[in-house]
Amino acid sequence: MSARVPFIAGNWKLHHNIPAAVALAGQIVDAMEPLARAAGPSKTVEVCIAPVATALYAVAQSVAESELLLAGQNCHHEPQGAFTGEVSPALLRDAGASHCIIGHSERRALFGETDAAIALKLRALLEAGLVPILCVGETLEQRDAGETEGVVIAQLRGALGDLSASALATLIVAYEPVWAIGTGRTASPADAQAVHAAIRAELAASHGDSLAQAVRVLYGGSVKASNAAELLSQPDIDGALVGGASLSSELFVPIIAAAYAVA
Ligand code: PGA
Repeated sequence: MSARVPFIAGNWKLHHNIPAAVALAGQIVDAMEPLARAAGPSKTVEVCIAPVATALYAVAQSVAESELLLAGQNCHHEPQGAFTGEVSPALLRDAGASHCIIGHSERRALFGETDAAIALKLRALLEAGLVPILCVGETLEQRDAGETEGVVIAQLRGALGDLSASALATLIVAYEPVWAIGTGRTASPADAQAVHAAIRAELAASHGDSLAQAVRVLYGGSVKASNAAELLSQPDIDGALVGGASLSSELFVPIIAAAYAVA
């Protein structure tokens, strides 16, 4: 068991309007409280959801008295200006977010985001005091070609650049094999653990052991109640970034419960 607090994040992507988002957030809060009580004060799990940007403020207002954390799904690196359609880290914070996902493979593949663009977003989030959830992961072709670790480490280096360990103190990394996202295919716990260990080893080499031991590395890609416990019990898997199974409390709450079981 590691000293890192498990982190379970729900990425709602382009789902749930304001009433649906507020209702689901309320159901998650209602389910979290008895889980936390049963686990006792020595066991903590952080739970975070990323609603669509238009629902963020309403959800934040509705869960303000709870421990539920909120994330943006993406951000622009500039604080303001002539950037039609974009949302800055400060505006996400203004709406109630404390975290923000960046570099999701859908952003990389569908919207052409490069490591350089993601590096700018990472810096902007840290400057605005938001916690970045940096996604990395290989495609099936890259895995089949034996390139998994090389691709993931290059994405990590590309995003972190020369940022210092102290600047990166809050960083969360999410390893999400592209071929496992939304497909029902999951990396085996052993395969996922191997990549997580490689990410931690890279962080130790680049930024020192203390940062490497502190950074939470989440697994994402078809996480569900039936595979969460085994994934979360791997020594370097510190939580999950959940897409499809975060869209209802029936699917999401058992994943939170699995995290309490290993906390
Ligand atoms: P999935 O999505 O759980 O539906 O595979 C994960 C993600 O895209 O973050």
